[in-house]
Amino acid sequence: MAKRKLKKFAEVESFHNCFYLPFEEARDNGLPLKGKWHTEYFKNNNPIVLELGCGKGEYTVGLAQRFPEKNFIGVDIKGNRIHTGAKTAVDNKMNNVAFVRTRIDFIEACFAENEISEIWITFPDPQPQKTRVRKRLTNMMFIKRYKKIMKEGGIINLKTDNEPFYDYSREVAAENKFEIIDSTNDLYDDITARDEVLTSIKTHYEKLFTKKGFKICYLKYRV
Ligand SMILES: C[S@@+](CC[C@H](N)C(=O)[O-])C[C@H]1O[C@@H](n2cnc3c(N)ncnc32)[C@H](O)[C@@H]1O
Repeated sequence: MAKRKLKKFAEVESFHNCFYLPFEEARDNGLPLKGKWHTEYFKNNNPIVLELGCGKGEYTVGLAQRFPEKNFIGVDIKGNRIHTGAKTAVDNKMNNVAFVRTRIDFIEACFAENEISEIWITFPDPQPQKTRVRKRLTNMMFIKRYKKIMKEGGIINLKTDNEPFYDYSREVAAENKFEIIDSTNDLYDDITARDEVLTSIKTHYEKLFTKKGFKICYLKYRV
């Protein structure tokens, strides 16, 4: 592994705002903060918002700066990516931010029932092959997990450059009669119609795919 990546891995482990949950721990014990995020980490009762597959955590940090009355947690398996957001939060003394390095598949081992208010899924891997449907973060198997940790009427926000993935997610939402609050296959077509957080926070992958000419899709639904 490259030296820079190794350094980031080591550093991320030392950040007070980063937590790691490997497979064995997820299976046997769960994250020690499960059910205790409000009392033992954030030390307030403010809503907790997750960013799943957060990468460098642009939404986690960007939303935390805009909404100090809420708490934000980024989840990703890749420690070197989380490093960017976690370091920004440490350097800026942001006490409403945390990161969990784990597989999203173990989300129920990280959070208790009703602990989460809202979820952002930002530019997830689209997993286009039929054989990979079970890996898509908006399939019903994942949504059932999210529903277990979310409060009644919890909201999911999806941003993606991949229109087939957006269509798939919309279909799953429609089939399951989830309330679709907002939906567009071209977010930047009329930015005045939407909240500024949707267009002013741009993730690494959003910038990458916008440069390549892809349109950005957005779906907001209540599950
Ligand atoms: C295409 S990248 C997007 C990263 C970031 N949200 C962005 O927009 O720049 C997808 C991210 O999801 C993470 N990821 C994919 N599947 C995951 C899983 N099952 N558990 C945890 N992380 C996952 C990857 O490690 C990667 O960082």
